[in-house]
Amino acid sequence: MCGIVGYTGHREALDVVVEGLRRLEYRGYDSAGVAIVADGALASAKRAGKLVNLEKALEERPLPSSGTGLGHTRWATHGSPTDRNAHPHLDESGRVAVIHNGIIENFARLRTELEESGVRFASETDTEVVAHLLAAEVAAGSDLADAMRAVCRRLDGAFTLLAVHADAPDRVVAARRNSPLVIGVGEGENFLASDVSAFIAHTREALEIGDGQIVEITPDDVTLTDFDGNAVEEKRFHVDWDASAAEKDGYDYFMLKEIAEQPKAVANTLLGRIGKDGLLSLDEMRLSDDELREVDKVVVVACGTAYHAGMVAKYAIEHWTRLPCEVELASEFRYRDPVVDRQTLVIAISQSGETMDTLMALRYAREQGARVLAICNTNGATIPRESDAVLYTHAGPEVAVASTKAFLTQMIACFLVGLYLGQVRGTKWGDEIRSVVRDLSDLPAKVDLVLETMEPVRELARNLASATSVLFLGRHVGYPVALEGALKLKELAYMHAEGFAAGELKHGPIALVEEGMPIVVVVPSPRGRSVLHDKIVSNIQEVRARGARTIVIAEEGDDDVVPYADHLIRVPECPVLLQPVVSTVPLQVFACEMASARGFDVDQPRNLAKSVTVE
Ligand code: F6R
Repeated sequence: MCGIVGYTGHREALDVVVEGLRRLEYRGYDSAGVAIVADGALASAKRAGKLVNLEKALEERPLPSSGTGLGHTRWATHGSPTDRNAHPHLDESGRVAVIHNGIIENFARLRTELEESGVRFASETDTEVVAHLLAAEVAAGSDLADAMRAVCRRLDGAFTLLAVHADAPDRVVAARRNSPLVIGVGEGENFLASDVSAFIAHTREALEIGDGQIVEITPDDVTLTDFDGNAVEEKRFHVDWDASAAEKDGYDYFMLKEIAEQPKAVANTLLGRIGKDGLLSLDEMRLSDDELREVDKVVVVACGTAYHAGMVAKYAIEHWTRLPCEVELASEFRYRDPVVDRQTLVIAISQSGETMDTLMALRYAREQGARVLAICNTNGATIPRESDAVLYTHAGPEVAVASTKAFLTQMIACFLVGLYLGQVRGTKWGDEIRSVVRDLSDLPAKVDLVLETMEPVRELARNLASATSVLFLGRHVGYPVALEGALKLKELAYMHAEGFAAGELKHGPIALVEEGMPIVVVVPSPRGRSVLHDKIVSNIQEVRARGARTIVIAEEGDDDVVPYADHLIRVPECPVLLQPVVSTVPLQVFACEMASARGFDVDQPRNLAKSVTVE
């Protein structure tokens, strides 16, 4: 939440910063603002609403040329999304500018203290206190980095802060505690940003900045210390994708591009993890086979779509390993005194690797002695860095706020972990593993097949664009798929949508069914668990008998559903446990098309932001 960019170097800072904000806008689009240091003074501009409003303002009133600046795109926490509350925030003399992501929990007390000393505030934000505190420290003789260290020691809460000062024309100072920030290292220029996409067009060399650290960048130097001024060791990494991966590439929306990228993303998650003998090799995970053999329980923590991936994982992990597997919303986990210990493997799933709820859950789990494995899409993010082990999904950057390719690859990564646990612990034998691995390897082509047949789904979405409510039903692994289908529709099309376990229908939700109500049913394969299949066919009949318009997602060749389906969406044959990888895709397309038919911004749905860095 909130996108942050800082730059100092040989380029025009404003161009670099605005371009960076464009790439980070998915982190929040309530307002945007910039500040640059030029001719011994600060110049700034900020506007409520999307970045385009700021760009217009900058066209009307250009800022002077400068090589040092910072910019912010906001997801509002304290104070409504107005021009006044947009970042950057300046001190009264206009010599310090600050941008911030996170929440300063003790801001009210600090604000009272400052007001009592005569400071007048210009906004309702928690951030503004930092500008005034920094100004006071600098006025008392500190340089900007010292001032930042002194101020951070007084702040409670989570924050990434960036500051520039009119008297320091070639430096940006930043602080990080429990909120994302990375450093981009260039030639004669350096960058700071919430994530690498902001500077990837200029450099792929990056440095991590740890929690409780301060960084000062000049065009030629990066200096890292902790809040007390002690030097800290640099951790460098290379970004293995380039700027084109974060472009729309001719698609109308990032979401459409990311849906289309799913076959490749799934293939990339499998890449290099299957040995020549057809078995899995996950040495990269950093957990030894002995440690995995000690595990007596698995707990998955995650939020939103990632939580749905965790729900699918539960079915697979319990089946393949015979270990109990719990799935918990990360935001609930640490508040209920969960039973975890050294023998518990906690799997934290997060696309961004920065979700605060998931981060707090994993920290809590580690405090209880559990081993934590992160499944993450973002190299060097906080969640993998703070975990004992990590399995990256390699889906490439996901820019659309609604998660698509990350979800499919999170499921694949969970399957890999489950199978690997089975392999190491001997609950699955070589031939069985090889057979599932072959099925996994077939998935990219199957997802491709689904994508080729999506036009009727798009047409259906357009026809149903005026519906007021859509229900989604599933059983077994189809249940999390139903939840995911409903979540996508809610967040993109702002429509009432609910997912249910089909067996629960008669325990209450069936009362919602009305004449003409669209109900999407995810049908498991008729092969294997045929009882499950038969039960859901009965559920389709039950809702149809009450007037529902049934939209049935079923495997090729499943003829039992044909008489009860008002609309039939076919997916390729798949082993039951792996089916969510194909059956989710039509639901993503359905939600995307529905949102676009209803005239909404598919990539930036209202009130949301990607990477939720507040609890
Ligand atoms: C929904 C969506 C969110 C995220 C959730 C967790 O489309 O994207 O529900 O899945 O905020 O985010 P990560 O995976 O970054 O922890």
